[in-house]
Amino acid sequence: MTGILDSFGRSINYLRISVTDRCNLRCLYCMPPEGVPQMPHSEILSYEEIRTVVRAAAELGINRIRLTGGEPLVRAELPKLIKMLSQMEGIEELSLTTNGTVLKKYALELKQAGLSRVNVSLDTLKPDKFRYITRLGELKTVLEDIEAAKEAGFEPVKINTVVMRGMNDDEILDFAKMTYKEECHVRFIELMPFKGAAEFVPSIELRQHISLLGKLEPCESITGNGPATYYRLAGAKGAIGFISPLTETSFCSRCNRMRLTPDGKLRPCLLGEDEVDLKTPLRNNASMEELKSLILKAVASKPEHHHLEGGNIRVVNRKMSQIGG
Ligand code: GTP
Ligand code: 5AD
Ligand code: SF4
Repeated sequence: MTGILDSFGRSINYLRISVTDRCNLRCLYCMPPEGVPQMPHSEILSYEEIRTVVRAAAELGINRIRLTGGEPLVRAELPKLIKMLSQMEGIEELSLTTNGTVLKKYALELKQAGLSRVNVSLDTLKPDKFRYITRLGELKTVLEDIEAAKEAGFEPVKINTVVMRGMNDDEILDFAKMTYKEECHVRFIELMPFKGAAEFVPSIELRQHISLLGKLEPCESITGNGPATYYRLAGAKGAIGFISPLTETSFCSRCNRMRLTPDGKLRPCLLGEDEVDLKTPLRNNASMEELKSLILKAVASKPEHHHLEGGNIRVVNRKMSQIGG
C-alpha cells in the first residue's frame, strides 16, 4: 500500500496544493465582494519550492497531487509547474480544480504539460444566478470551457456543485439530467459552514429528490481520489457524486489527504487550525530528510475527524480561498 499511515490507520497518499490565494471570481460563500487581502508574492512558494515539497512527499509515498487555489489558473505560467510535477518520479496522477473561467485558453497546454484531470466548479445553470453567486463570472464562458476541456482530452471532467438551500436547490434535477447526455460526472457538495455561508442541504435529501428521475444505483468505478460517493441513473453516461462532510458519519475515516497552502504551510485537516511551516525551512536550505520529517509530523497530527456535525460552526484561521477546498 502506498501512502503514509496516520495515527488512525488511514493511508495518506494525496496532496492538494493551493498555488495561489487569488481568484478572478468572488463566490458568495467563499469571499466578500471586495475580495480578501492578498498574500504578498514573496510569501508565496515559488514553483521550485513547490517541486521540492512534492519531491519529499513523493519519497514518502504521496502519489496523487491536485492543484487548487483561489483560482489556480490565475497564477502565471501554471503549465510550467504542471510540467515540473508531472514528470516527477512517484507522481501517478496530477489534477486541477478550477472555476473554469480561463480553462479554454489553457486546456491544450495543460494537457500537453501532463495534467491528468480537471474538476470544474459550477453552482448554477442559470446565467443571472451564476452572476449573482460568483459576482463576476459569466455562465457561458464556463460551459464553453468545460467543452474545451473535454475536447482537449481530459477524461473524466467532473463538475462540483455546492448546494445552498433557497439558492440553487431548485436546479438539482437539471444538474442530474446533465449526466444522461454528457460524458461528465456531477458532484453535489454539502456547503461547509464558514462565516456568512448559506444553509447546506443534506445529501440524503438530494438523493431522494433525484430518485424522481429513476433509481440511483451505487457506482464504484469512477476515477478519483476525493471523498465523493457515486451513483448512476439508468442509461446515464455520467455519474452523480455526493460529497457529504456534514452528514456522512464515515467521511473523515476515508480521509487520504493533506493540504499545502500558497505560503507553504502543511494543513493536516481542511477544517482544523493546525499547520506545519515548510516555507521557513525551505528558505533556510533544509535537507530532504528535514522536510520529510516535517511532512511526517503533519501526517501524525491529523485529527480523527472534524467537528462540523450538527451544524457546528467552526472558526477556521484561513479562508477557503487560501486552502483550496
Ligand atoms: P477527485 O480526485 O476527482 O475525487 O477530486 P476531489 O474531490 O478530491 O477534488 P475537488 O477539488 O474537486 O474537491 C471537491 C470538494 O470536496 C472540495 O472543494 C471540498 O469542498 C470537498 N472536500 C475535498 N476534500 C475534503 C476534505 O478532506 N474535507 C472536507 N470537509 N471537504 C473536502
Ligand atoms: N463548502 C463546500 N465547498 C466549498 N468550496 C468553497 N467553499 C466551500 C464551502 N464553504 C469549494 C468550491 C470549489 C472548491 C474550490 O471549493 O465549490 O469546488
Ligand atoms: Fe474563487 Fe473558488 Fe472561492 Fe469561487 S469558490 S471565489 S471560484 S476560490
